[in-house]
Amino acid sequence: MKILIHPTSEGAVKAAALQIADLLAARPEAVLGLATGGTMEPVYAALIDLVAEGQCRGDRFTSFNLDEYVGLSADHPQSYHHYMRRHLFDALGVPAAQTHLPAGDAPDLAAEAQRYEARIAAAGGIDLQLLGIGANGHIGFNEPSSSLASRTRVKTLTRSTVEANRRFFAEGEAVPVHALTMGIGTVMDARHILLLATGAGKARAVAGMAEGPVSAACPASILQMHPSVVLVCDRAAAADLRMTDYYETVHPDGAERTGEPA
Ligand code: PGA
Repeated sequence: MKILIHPTSEGAVKAAALQIADLLAARPEAVLGLATGGTMEPVYAALIDLVAEGQCRGDRFTSFNLDEYVGLSADHPQSYHHYMRRHLFDALGVPAAQTHLPAGDAPDLAAEAQRYEARIAAAGGIDLQLLGIGANGHIGFNEPSSSLASRTRVKTLTRSTVEANRRFFAEGEAVPVHALTMGIGTVMDARHILLLATGAGKARAVAGMAEGPVSAACPASILQMHPSVVLVCDRAAAADLRMTDYYETVHPDGAERTGEPA
């Protein structure tokens, strides 16, 4: 796992956006796995800027999002369909047919989960999967105790995740307690993975992911078994890592390369 610790969250966000832009510059038609949540909002804003600056095209990729709330239609303002249009797709002008999210309001959610897996496979699989991490170590909505081999399916959200999501909903509005999410096995099939974590609230999860035992108690820890993972974080999210000296020696201030073999 490549661990890039940036002094600031702004630096980490920019680095993550640049990694996506580099891929799109090399291969505009790449298949992206995309994520939602507060961490990703500035990443998408930075990516939009990079496209506007001409660093890469932003209208040719195909994308598959990690998850969607069960019961919310694509037009619900708190749905992830809506989030993606608002924070990324509309600004880039990417054709809707190239963007995919699971339908959380499908009448048959098990069939929808299978259809989603089939669509990813038909697209040739995911080149780069972007991930955030929950304070409890979840990736997508694969909560602790999720099967490390799971595929897309409905998951019940933990109370702490529901509470963390509440800030995005209006006061008094019901916060969904189920989501349709790519499984951990689905995520692990991606050719490359980029996980971004910012802020002190993620420090424990980041340490569990990178240095803890591989365990369903911290679902992100399975990424230790993936051959191509980059963790981009800021100093606050890196605070509980034990081998920080080593990571910072290899990649000072999160720099990709030092000129020496890593
Ligand atoms: P956040 O969510 O970016 O809103 O913290 C991340 C996650 O739960 O995966």
